[in-house]
Amino acid sequence: MKRIDFAIIFMATIMYFFTGCQDANKKKTVKSGYDKEIRELISKMTLDEKIGQLNMLSGDWSVTGPVVRTDFKEDIKAGKVGTMLNAYTAKHARKLMQLSVDSTRLGIPLLLGYDVIHGHRTIFPIPLGESCTWDLDLIEKAAQIAAEEASAEGIHWTFAPMVDIARDPRWGRVMEGAGEDPWLGSQIAKARVNGFQGEDLSLNNTILACVKHVAAYGAPIAGRDYNTVDLSERTLFETYLPPYRAAVEAGVGTAMTAFNEINGIPCTSNHWLWEDLLRGQWGFDGFVLTDYTAILELIKHGVANDLYDASVLAINAGVDVDMVSQGFINHLKKAIENGEVSEERINQSVYRILKAKFELGLFDDPYRYCDTVREKDVVMTKEKVEFARKAGRDACVLLKNNNVLPFSKNIKSIAVIGPLADTKEDMIGAWTAAGDRYTRPVTLLEGIKNKLGTSVKIRYAKGTDYNSWSKDGFREAVKAAKKADVVILALGENWQMSSEAQSRSMIDLPGNQNELADAIIKANMNTAIILMNGRPLTIQHLDDIAPAILETWYAGTEGGNAIADVIFGDYNPSGKLTITFPRNVGQIPIFYSHKNTGRPFNPSDHYTSKYIDVPNSPLYPFGYGLSYTTFQYEQLSVDKTEISKQDTLRVNVVLTNTGNYDGAEVAQLYIRDLVGSVTRPVKELRGFQKIFLKKGATKKLTFLLTDKDFSFYRKNMTYGSEPGHFEIFVGGSSATMYKSSFILK
Ligand code: BGC
Repeated sequence: MKRIDFAIIFMATIMYFFTGCQDANKKKTVKSGYDKEIRELISKMTLDEKIGQLNMLSGDWSVTGPVVRTDFKEDIKAGKVGTMLNAYTAKHARKLMQLSVDSTRLGIPLLLGYDVIHGHRTIFPIPLGESCTWDLDLIEKAAQIAAEEASAEGIHWTFAPMVDIARDPRWGRVMEGAGEDPWLGSQIAKARVNGFQGEDLSLNNTILACVKHVAAYGAPIAGRDYNTVDLSERTLFETYLPPYRAAVEAGVGTAMTAFNEINGIPCTSNHWLWEDLLRGQWGFDGFVLTDYTAILELIKHGVANDLYDASVLAINAGVDVDMVSQGFINHLKKAIENGEVSEERINQSVYRILKAKFELGLFDDPYRYCDTVREKDVVMTKEKVEFARKAGRDACVLLKNNNVLPFSKNIKSIAVIGPLADTKEDMIGAWTAAGDRYTRPVTLLEGIKNKLGTSVKIRYAKGTDYNSWSKDGFREAVKAAKKADVVILALGENWQMSSEAQSRSMIDLPGNQNELADAIIKANMNTAIILMNGRPLTIQHLDDIAPAILETWYAGTEGGNAIADVIFGDYNPSGKLTITFPRNVGQIPIFYSHKNTGRPFNPSDHYTSKYIDVPNSPLYPFGYGLSYTTFQYEQLSVDKTEISKQDTLRVNVVLTNTGNYDGAEVAQLYIRDLVGSVTRPVKELRGFQKIFLKKGATKKLTFLLTDKDFSFYRKNMTYGSEPGHFEIFVGGSSATMYKSSFILK
C-alpha cells in the first residue's frame, strides 16, 4: 500500500471514531413520553433500589444457561430484581408481579422476559426455515402471533429477533437467524421487530423485542459456539452490523450483548459498541442487557480480575441490565463509593428500564398481561395453528426432484421410513419457548395419515435411529419400501443437534442414515427424502442418489400436516435457501456474495483460485429452491443505461410460469459494482418479489433501485456510492447469470 493511502485511511478512521464518540457524548438517554413520571420516580429511589432495577434473575421454569441461584422470590421482595427471565403463564407471572408490587417500598413492576424465538405455544418453523419463505408479511405475522400468545402468559419481552448473520453451518445457532445475507437479514430483522412490538407497546398483545447478539456472534472462529470472533472492520460493517442496525431503525426496545469479543474487547465491556455506535451513531434509545452470565465471563475472557472489575467495565461500557451474573447487584454500590462508576450513570440505566416499563403500561396496570381468561382464549387458537401450518409448508425448500414429487393421492400404498418420520419432539426444533414438544406436534407419519385416510396402506419403519450405526432396523425398512408404491424417507438431525452449544465439526447426516438411504432407494426408486435439520448439511451423497429431496427444517407444531400438503401437491413448494449448502465442510465458509479475488477460477489456468478435490461451487446456492412448476425469466431491461445519484432505476423482467402447476416464485435481483475504491462482492442481493402465477401465466416485474442500493463503505469508510459500471442479475437463485447493466454517473 502506498504511504499516502495508508495516511488517508488512518485519518478517516480516526475521524470516524472521533465523530462517533462526539455523538455519543452528546447523546444522552432519549426522553420518553413519560419523562416526568420517570424522573419523579427516580428521585424517590435509594441507590440500592436503583441498582435492583439493573439486576435480572432467572426463574426456574426453563434453564437457558448455567444455574446461578434460585432464591429469586426473596430477592424480588427485597427490591433487588428489576427484570426476570424464564418465568411465564398468567398465574405464575401474577404471583411474581405481586411480590414486586406489594412487597417492595415503591411497588415497581417486574419486567418478565423469555426466549420467544419462533412462536410461544404455537410453534412456527425455526427462524432459518421461516426466512426461506422470503415472505416478510408471513414472518411479521408469525412474530405478532408469538407476541399475542406470550403476552397472554405474563411475558412482556422477548429475547428476539436473533439477527446474527451466519456463514458457517458448523455453528449450531444458524437455525435461529435468517441466514447469510445482510440485506435480506435486515428486512427480516425489521419484520420481526414490527411483529413483536406492533405499533403500540402498551397494548396487551404486543411485547418488547430484543435485537441480539450484538455484535457478530454469528462469526465464531471455526464455527465453534462462544469462540472468539476476529473480523476486519470492513467485514464487521458490511456484513455483520446491518441487521442489528435495521432492528434499531425499526425501533427495537432492547439489545443484548453477544458473548464474543470484537477487536479484542468483549461485547459486554465494549464502550465503542454501545455508546459510540448503537447509541451515538444509530440513535438506539432502548436498554442493553447482557447475555446470560456474560459479565461474569469477562473474567474468563481475561479483561477483568474479578466480578467487581467486570461489573465496572460493563456498566461503564453502557450496559444497563445484568443477566444472572449478579455483578451489578453485588458490586456497583461499592464501585460508586470508590468513584469508579457515577450515580448519574446508574440513573441513566434506571431511566431506560423504567421507560420500558412505563411504555408497556405496567405502571397503569402491572397485571395487564396476567389474565388467565385471555390466556385461555388466545393461546393456540384454530387460526394460529392454521397459520403455523401455512408457515410450515412455505418454509419447505425443494432441493431436488426427478419428477417424483408430488406424489399422487391415488396410490395404493406408501412406506414412511426414517429416524425422523414419527418423532414428535423433533418437529419443532430448538428454542421453542412454551411449546409442547412431546404431545402436540404433528409428526410426518401422522400428517401423511391425516392426508390419506384409510384408503391407502401406510407402512412405517424407523430403519435406524438418527445417530446410530446399528443396521438392525434396515431389513424391515427395506421390506416396507419394496412393498410400497412410493416411499417417504425422513432423515436429518434430532432437534438438539442444532442450537446453542451444538456446533459440529462434520455436518453430514449423523449415524448410518446415508446407508439407510442407499438401501431404501435401491429397494424403491419412487423415494422422496424429507430432511429435518437446523443447518445446511453436507448431503452430496444424497443428492447423487436420491430421486427427490425436500428440506423441511423443523417445521413447527403443524409440521407433519404442512409437509404432507407439499408431498401430495396440495401446496407447491416455493421456499428458497437463505444459506448456502456446501458440498463438504472444507468449503466452509462458503457464501454467494464473495469477492472475485485477483485470480478468479479459470479452468484453463492452473494458478487460479480453486480446490483440486472439489468444485468451488456449493451444492445448493443461496436463493435456490425448486418448484413443481418451472419459471422463465425474459426481456430483462433497465429503463436508463446511465443514471445519476438522484435517479431511480427501473429494472424490468418478464416472468412466466412455464410448467404444469400453479406456483409461486421468488424473483431475486442482485447487483455487482464492477470497479470500486475497494473490492466489491461478485453479487449482492438488492431486491426480491414473491409472485404467484397460475400455470401458463406471465407477469412483468419491476424492481426499483436507488442510490442507497449502490452504497457501501468506501475506501475511507464513509458510506455512499461511487460512479461506474454496474451489472444487474435477475433470476430464481444467486447463481443466475441473466444480466443487464448500467452506468452510475
Ligand atoms: C443465549 C441467549 C438467550 C439467553 C437467555 C443465552 O444462553 O445466548 O440467546 O436469550 O441465554 O435464555
